[in-house]
Amino acid sequence: MERGLSAREKRLRGSEAIFPRRAKRPMGSAVEPQWGRKYWSCRECENNIPFFLLCANSSLDSHAGGDGEVHQFNPCVLSLFLQFQIDAHALTYGDGFSGSHKLKKSLCHFLNRRFRPRIALCPSHLTITSGVSNAVECCAWALADPGDHVLVGRPYFNAFKTIFGARPRVELQEVKFGKTDPFSMAALQHYERAYAEAKNNDVRVKALLLCSPHNPLGRCYSEEVLREYMRFCSRNGLHLISDEIYALSVWDNPHLPDATPFRSVLSINFEEVIDPSTVHVVWGLSKVRIHIPLTDMNIDDFGATGLRIGCLISQSNTLLLDAAEGISLYNFPSSLADNIATSLLLDDKFTSEYIATNRKRLAGSYRFATKFLRSHQIPYVECNAAFFIWINLGAVAKDRTSSDKDILARLHKERVYIATGAIYASEEPGWFRMVFAHPQNVLEEGLNRMLRAIQSRQCLIQEADVAHLT
Ligand SMILES: Cc1ncc(COP(=O)(O)O)c(C=O)c1O
Repeated sequence: MERGLSAREKRLRGSEAIFPRRAKRPMGSAVEPQWGRKYWSCRECENNIPFFLLCANSSLDSHAGGDGEVHQFNPCVLSLFLQFQIDAHALTYGDGFSGSHKLKKSLCHFLNRRFRPRIALCPSHLTITSGVSNAVECCAWALADPGDHVLVGRPYFNAFKTIFGARPRVELQEVKFGKTDPFSMAALQHYERAYAEAKNNDVRVKALLLCSPHNPLGRCYSEEVLREYMRFCSRNGLHLISDEIYALSVWDNPHLPDATPFRSVLSINFEEVIDPSTVHVVWGLSKVRIHIPLTDMNIDDFGATGLRIGCLISQSNTLLLDAAEGISLYNFPSSLADNIATSLLLDDKFTSEYIATNRKRLAGSYRFATKFLRSHQIPYVECNAAFFIWINLGAVAKDRTSSDKDILARLHKERVYIATGAIYASEEPGWFRMVFAHPQNVLEEGLNRMLRAIQSRQCLIQEADVAHLT
């Protein structure tokens, strides 16, 4: 039984399908790649290669994300892409608007190795979306109705508000933790409280949203805690949506020897804990940062955010997948991206080497950045996943009365950008999310500029000057 689809989704399902699922068809023959080099030349776009320097390339401007992730496509990647065989089928509408059969199979192949699901994934367990944001939006659309709420702990990924709010009109019911560790069992009581509060206010809560590994805190939930979340959802008839986009970017932190490793919700035997049709996972290629073996550059990047490949996995809820497919006309990724992702995910040697290198480099950059933070008494929260650190610049700013906006303006004066905690719904002011995944020279320059900024006196700036930064 598939539980609890939204009323609007049921209405849509009752009407005639505009884009019925297509029957499997044979693949076309391989042809040479068709695109020109200029296609890849975009240097300035939002939410791409993470880091915080506005200085490395003056053409990168502070509009870059609300989150300090500035992405720059690495032209070296072109040579890798040109090796991919583009299937003629990829230049058509393909197998329908929820991803090619080939991509679904290659995702299953890849995720079965990496996520170790309790039941092996097969193509009918997932749908391809245009990035992970879109996979989350599909959940919002299909599981909740306008005005419904979804529980999410603070701080959280800044775009969730937009993803849930803009089109699905679903609201976030924020959960505060105070001094409680948000990854501990004790955090559950705060969800209970927020849920009870919502009920008292006649607010309908439909789901709980987890992000593991977490953005912006860079930590994972243990199996024990995940099971407790499942019990909580089951008790209250909620869906559990687990955003696991950073699953492959977990690394060793010697300062956190007992750090919780990543455990996918899919790998847990949860049948006795929760109705499986209420458990959904999203993942995608946007945060898979790729080292290209053909070059000797220190940090290369696939710019995979631009591929716009994500997936929504729901192993026991075909209605949800159908609902996502029902609105896929607006979302489906380019067949070229689909084709490239398919080749990538099937290359076990490449993905294994890449993931290992990525982890090693993230660990190295983190060590470098945190050594700097410690040597300048800048408080931060230890983590072991993703590529950002939660740091408290408010605690060390020269002028202790500085607001986050003041600090941001000073950083901007030094041409360095770090996202304020406020955009992640931080419970306290002063916190920032600093991205550390960069070559050491860039990282060092950025950290020095950050230090100069917080040591400078309060910057008397016009409100309007910082309005666009927050
Ligand atoms: C937790 C989380 N979910 C989703 C996304 C969005 O991913 P995509 O670019 O694939 O839409 C991000 C991007 O930063 C993220 O941090």
